[in-house]
Amino acid sequence: MAIPDGFLDEIKTRIRPSDLIGRTVALRRQGREFAGLSPFKKERTPSFFVNDEKGFYHCFSSQKHGDVFTWLQETQGLSFMEAVEALAREAGLEVPKADPEAARREEKRKGLIEWVELAQRFFARKLKGSDAAAAREYLRGRGLGDKEIEAFGLGYAPDDRRALRDFLMAEGATVAELDEAGLVIRPDDGGEAYDRFRGRIIFPIKDPRGRLVAFGGRAMSKDVRAKYLNSPETPLFHKGSVLYRYPEARTAAHDPAIRAKGLIVAEGYMDVIAFARAGLPHAVAPLGTALTEDQIRLLWRAGPEPVVCLDGDEAGRRAAALAAERALALLEPGKTLRFVFLPDGQDPDDLLRDKGAKALHEAIAGARPLADVLWEREFAAEPLDDPDRRAGFRKRLRALNAKIADPDIKAEYRAEFDRRLAEAFGSPARRPASGGWKRRNDDPLAGPPMSSTKRAIKTPHAPPAARHLLLAAIDWPEIAEAEAETLSELPMGPLDSLREAVLDALSTGEASGEGGLRAGLARRGFSEAIRRLERERRPMRAAMGGEDAALDARAEAWRRLALSYMDRAGSDVREAEERALTLQVLGDEDSDRMRQLVAGIRRSRKR
Ligand code: UTP
Ligand code: MN
Repeated sequence: MAIPDGFLDEIKTRIRPSDLIGRTVALRRQGREFAGLSPFKKERTPSFFVNDEKGFYHCFSSQKHGDVFTWLQETQGLSFMEAVEALAREAGLEVPKADPEAARREEKRKGLIEWVELAQRFFARKLKGSDAAAAREYLRGRGLGDKEIEAFGLGYAPDDRRALRDFLMAEGATVAELDEAGLVIRPDDGGEAYDRFRGRIIFPIKDPRGRLVAFGGRAMSKDVRAKYLNSPETPLFHKGSVLYRYPEARTAAHDPAIRAKGLIVAEGYMDVIAFARAGLPHAVAPLGTALTEDQIRLLWRAGPEPVVCLDGDEAGRRAAALAAERALALLEPGKTLRFVFLPDGQDPDDLLRDKGAKALHEAIAGARPLADVLWEREFAAEPLDDPDRRAGFRKRLRALNAKIADPDIKAEYRAEFDRRLAEAFGSPARRPASGGWKRRNDDPLAGPPMSSTKRAIKTPHAPPAARHLLLAAIDWPEIAEAEAETLSELPMGPLDSLREAVLDALSTGEASGEGGLRAGLARRGFSEAIRRLERERRPMRAAMGGEDAALDARAEAWRRLALSYMDRAGSDVREAEERALTLQVLGDEDSDRMRQLVAGIRRSRKR
């Protein structure tokens, strides 16, 4: 939209830079200028100057320079037009509308916003009233008292089909307006319009410019069909271009420490509130959908590396991968997304309640790069145990890479994927080469070795208990995770490398989610080893409490087996090693002799 000549100057004459900037930066007069510490860079001596006469600021340490408009763009992430509008409002000026149609629409929106704002006051008042005792009780149960109700502008929609409607119509609203604002529902059959939100806790939703445009409503009982109900799409509210608490988060990002990184993206309203209560006021959430491109752009306005924080479950991983994929086309140097996956299907709200604010801070500090998420999704998509599948995997990575528009970033991602591919499959030397596992059939105790190399016989297979414990750990990563310490101490003999791989995959987090651990092991070259191990799934399950045992019971069985195995294992493994040594010395030329020898070992073990 074109702004008439002179309008910007008019704003500049009305807004003094030192007033505007002085709200967020402590300024001291120094001659004709004002001086302060740089808002852009940490420093001890002031190198930031504001000159009202010339109408600009200049920062010597960061070389940033500009006027009141660029100030808002730089520090609040506003677009130029938004900065103009914000300052015009402040100066008491109306931004001239070039297009009369646009002006009319804007006028209408303003009218609708007034009804939404009035509705918000109505909901807030209702939450204080006598018929909202249960709502307040519900909120208290979730850790939200009067202070939080106030801070987050929460409200209550009475369980009544006409409460809001009657109130607003008494104030002069028409049904058509309330319908357009998404506050009432008009039945198709022409029946009377009724309140959209009934018997729900109300969360106010603002657009990126801070105007109240919609509501989210949470049911208090479990048996309501929709746990959350949001305003529909209206002339005011396009849910794909709005993030819950974005204006507040962006204000919080005036803090240079936050601004240097970026906002936090949670999944739900209560999670955003949990972050804020934990001292992370820069959290936002999409409104029940995956992040859109618009939302990603909004995030980048407030900082270069927003952290998307999702449940560690399947849905969370899918949402992350989708957001990651959408971000690809938009990436620019210095603009990316990072990801946090929370453990055990917990959301930030659960985490705050169970483990406290520190847990949330730690989770955010552990955010991982975008490339990881893409890699892992493709990695987990299917087993990568044959060349065709690996080729397919490479191809999928290339396709993702092709979505990146920025040439520098594209090159970086390509190099990163190539490096990982080489690491995972490229150099055979990295794969477990000594084939204890591949040679299960060559088990010297099971029959004569096939014509094979001496190295093949060097590693006999581990005792059944060890195999069962390891297979159980792979089948139920929850057990492996919970018992990682014990697992790391179990003597596994030839299975050591597989056990290390399990622990390694668990420690990187790539193992969370359905099939994650297996994918991680496949990548490390253990598919074949696992396949062989899986032949013992039946006896293993029997040892772990049977087919239908609950996870708890299995974990308990696992612990018991591990303990008894540990007691015996030391000597078993030594014995196995001795056997291996003997066989290695003999070689495999004479299988008859070998059989005799094996029989001898068996006899000696029985004694
Ligand atoms: P969740 O189901 O993860 O809810 O939905 P939550 O945020 O943990 O909520 P609590 O803790 O049970 O109160 C995440 C978000 O998805 C949207 C809402 O925006 C919610 O905050 N949602 C969810 C809906 O729009 N409708 C629904 O029925 C459920
Ligand atoms: Mn929750």
